[in-house]
Amino acid sequence: MPFIADRLSRIKPSATLAMTSRTLELKAAGRDVIGLSAGEPDFDTPANIQEAAIAAMRRGETRYTNVDGTPALKKAISAKFRRENGLDYALNQITVGTGGKQVLFNALMATVNQGDEVIVPAPYWVSYPDIVLLAEGTPVPVACPQNNGFKLRPEDLEAAITRKTKWLLLNSPSNPSGAAYTAAELRAVADVLLRHPDVWVLTDDMYEHVLYDDFKFTTIAQIEPKLYSRTLTLNGVSKAYCMTGWRIGYAGGPPELIKAMAALQSQSTSNPSSISQAASVEALNGPQDFIPKHNAVFKERRDLVVEMLNRAPGLFCPRPEGAFYVYPSCAGTIGKRTPQGKVIENDTDFVMYLLDAEGVAVVQGVAFGLSPHFRISYATSTEALREACTRIQRACAALK
Ligand SMILES: Cc1ncc(COP(=O)(O)O)c(C=O)c1O
Repeated sequence: MPFIADRLSRIKPSATLAMTSRTLELKAAGRDVIGLSAGEPDFDTPANIQEAAIAAMRRGETRYTNVDGTPALKKAISAKFRRENGLDYALNQITVGTGGKQVLFNALMATVNQGDEVIVPAPYWVSYPDIVLLAEGTPVPVACPQNNGFKLRPEDLEAAITRKTKWLLLNSPSNPSGAAYTAAELRAVADVLLRHPDVWVLTDDMYEHVLYDDFKFTTIAQIEPKLYSRTLTLNGVSKAYCMTGWRIGYAGGPPELIKAMAALQSQSTSNPSSISQAASVEALNGPQDFIPKHNAVFKERRDLVVEMLNRAPGLFCPRPEGAFYVYPSCAGTIGKRTPQGKVIENDTDFVMYLLDAEGVAVVQGVAFGLSPHFRISYATSTEALREACTRIQRACAALK
């Protein structure tokens, strides 16, 4: 009898983390590899946030805290939701976990029963379907192709809803496509949900602050107050505040759901790091002026990557509204042959070819549920991006 539990057979390790480890291995072996697979800003955590962590340690805030967040952090989160999103969440409607990923995990584990369906617009963040599977639910991917701007159309949502649907997972701006929903697009999604009172919506707003060209961010509970009582609004400090390693994510939602999530967390990890929580209070309450500065750099890189990729034969790269990813199509390379004579049959073949031929590490679209595409994270230096795109152009030109 195998020692490992059956539930583990349902999931696979994160494809993005796998590609990042492969890049590190190749680099350690002396290969010249440019890694464009990691989903984190290359900027350091701002100094005032680092100082707040040091001050917290010196004050002795190094002990257990309330399981799902200190009152100080919950107050800062409540104020953030009111200030930035026009949403009122009292402290018993707020939960804090070890990264947005744990908060998502808690929400799904606390609510999904065997066979419950969770609608996941594709392309999706790699972790969504696997967490649904761990919770014994059924992920229901709904294709949102490039022609629809990688966004969920109301008619496709309507068609995907069944009596078993428990949640719709929304993510805007999106990892991996960078697509963000306008208020009108969210309105159309909300109108469908109003017709289905048993379907809840989990909106992952992790990239809320990473938007370009004056795109105005909105979130679904703000667009449709009637959905507030069945929405979990998830966010975190990882991306906007360059705090991926600190591991703080949070959500606002109905008190019963928040309580169930805290119960689960009390029997798994307990509180997130006390020091990271103190740092996050400073992140949310402190100066926000570095955010537009970072975005200006990201926007320049986005434009560089989009332009260079659109000059690579066989690729097509739309210009996304936000996040720090592009999700180009490699449809025009499928069926072509590499100089070594191998036929590119799918996006995994294409990505492996880029890695072998030119030492550029990106992630295959199949991992995000929509092919033939690949994801590039442009949260890396402009020189590295320029060199990587030159190599991709060369690799594409060498296909026959
Ligand atoms: C869409 C999305 N949601 C949630 C997360 C989780 O972030 P955290 O690092 O806070 O767990 C990520 C991180 O990659 C993400 O891309």
